[in-house]
Amino acid sequence: MDWSTFFEVHKDLPREGPGTAEDVVWATGLAGLPEGAVICDAAAGPGADVEVLAQAVPGARVLAFDKQEGFVAQMRARFLDTPDVSVQRADLAETADLPRVPFDMIWCAGALYFLGLEHGLEVMRGALKPGAVLAFSEPCHFTDTPGPEACAFWEGYPTRNRLGIVAAVTAAGYEILGTRDVSDAGWEAYYQPMEARIETLRAQGDARLTDMLDLCAKEAEDWRAVRSETGYLLTVARRVS
Ligand SMILES: C[S@@+](CC[C@H](N)C(=O)[O-])C[C@H]1O[C@@H](n2cnc3c(N)ncnc32)[C@H](O)[C@@H]1O
Repeated sequence: MDWSTFFEVHKDLPREGPGTAEDVVWATGLAGLPEGAVICDAAAGPGADVEVLAQAVPGARVLAFDKQEGFVAQMRARFLDTPDVSVQRADLAETADLPRVPFDMIWCAGALYFLGLEHGLEVMRGALKPGAVLAFSEPCHFTDTPGPEACAFWEGYPTRNRLGIVAAVTAAGYEILGTRDVSDAGWEAYYQPMEARIETLRAQGDARLTDMLDLCAKEAEDWRAVRSETGYLLTVARRVS
């Protein structure tokens, strides 16, 4: 991946993965958070979900982090005047990097799988207090017989079905509070602004960007072709011990 052209195409998009505000409201509702809850948005990208997390319960505080400096800078600017939100750079894969705060909830949209499901669940468990809640979206096959295009969409990631994800979460020491598929509207909320940016950049005719523009456009097209077979499962689960 050429990250410099990737970030030129993805610059200033409202979100970097599929999801809606309603997903966040659903998950925080299931979590039954206390007033003044401390919530982490792990791998928050440009921070699309942060405001809704901060409104989950009175007095909620949100710590949002991401590995990429560009997204961290975007969030710092976005939440400069929001005292209940703090932003930092941290790498999920570096345990020493992770914020040492006993979170009531960790929200992790479209990123836990970069660590692999089992390892990601273990890392998150370590950052939650007993009884606290993890909500995350994970690649999921919605059928037991996904076609080659649906499998190829996740580029070799060992994508499971809904039952497989639930089994892994339970085995990792969590109690499932709820699951649901991320809706097509959630995917379009990611892809449509990206496609608008692709059009703008194509019109500017910068040949350096052509390959990345094609790659990003293809991802959206590929998802539309396989969306009935594969997507994200959003899971809300409580750390049991
Ligand atoms: C698919 S995007 C989702 C971003 C955001 N949660 C959203 O829904 O808009 C994945 C995010 O994970 C971040 N990321 C990837 N690996 C990471 C890691 N090891 N530590 C922290 N962030 C990471 C990326 O920089 C990117 O912002």
